[in-house]
Amino acid sequence: MTSYRPAQRLLHWFVALCIPILLVLGLWMTARASANLWDDQTNLLYGLHKALGFTVLWLMLLRLFFKLRTAAPAYPASLTPIHILVAKSMHGLLYALLFAVPLLGWAGVTAYPALITVAGYHLPAMPWVTQDPALAKQLFELHGTLAFVLVALIVCHVAAALGHLLFKRDGVFERMWPGKSVKTP
Ligand code: HEM
Repeated sequence: MTSYRPAQRLLHWFVALCIPILLVLGLWMTARASANLWDDQTNLLYGLHKALGFTVLWLMLLRLFFKLRTAAPAYPASLTPIHILVAKSMHGLLYALLFAVPLLGWAGVTAYPALITVAGYHLPAMPWVTQDPALAKQLFELHGTLAFVLVALIVCHVAAALGHLLFKRDGVFERMWPGKSVKTP
């Protein structure tokens, strides 16, 4: 068995880097908004959050394309069918949330409407979403809640990955690590 394709590994680590940045931006900007601090800094934080979150959405589409087009490398023989089922379910949930969270954010800013990001650049409005501030509020609430569910799943995902790297040492971590492709037992 070999590693994931280099493009898949690159996308994985780039999205992995974007999530904590989006989390910090999201919490920071909403804390400033709650404190009624509507200045250039708050607008910049919102703009960066929206632009980066929208980028993640497109990168996830690219990841899905690769996932559907290329078979994942086989798991090492040491993994039981239950392990594999849990791993695959976890990855499916992560994909679902990595689509749902940015889609809800985009739908929210379309309904609000607040499509401006940075340097005067506006996001396109999400098709079929009408301008409705009450709907926007609900979408943002769901967006925030699912973002925290996503973080909880990512913590489990990282713990499992580190378990493979440090304790099982079965090559599962290395097949997603950038650099030379590896073979696992
Ligand atoms: C994976 C991508 C994303 C993650 C992980 C994420 C995460 C977060 C988090 C943690 C918050 C703070 C929630 C709270 O304090 O309750 C937040 C708020 C927000 N996000 Fe995102 N976000 C993502 C994508 C997006 C996108 C694509 C947009 C819009 C294009 C967006 C627009 C917003 C807005 C406007 C808020 C403030 C909502 C409010 O004021 O209640 N987000 N996001």
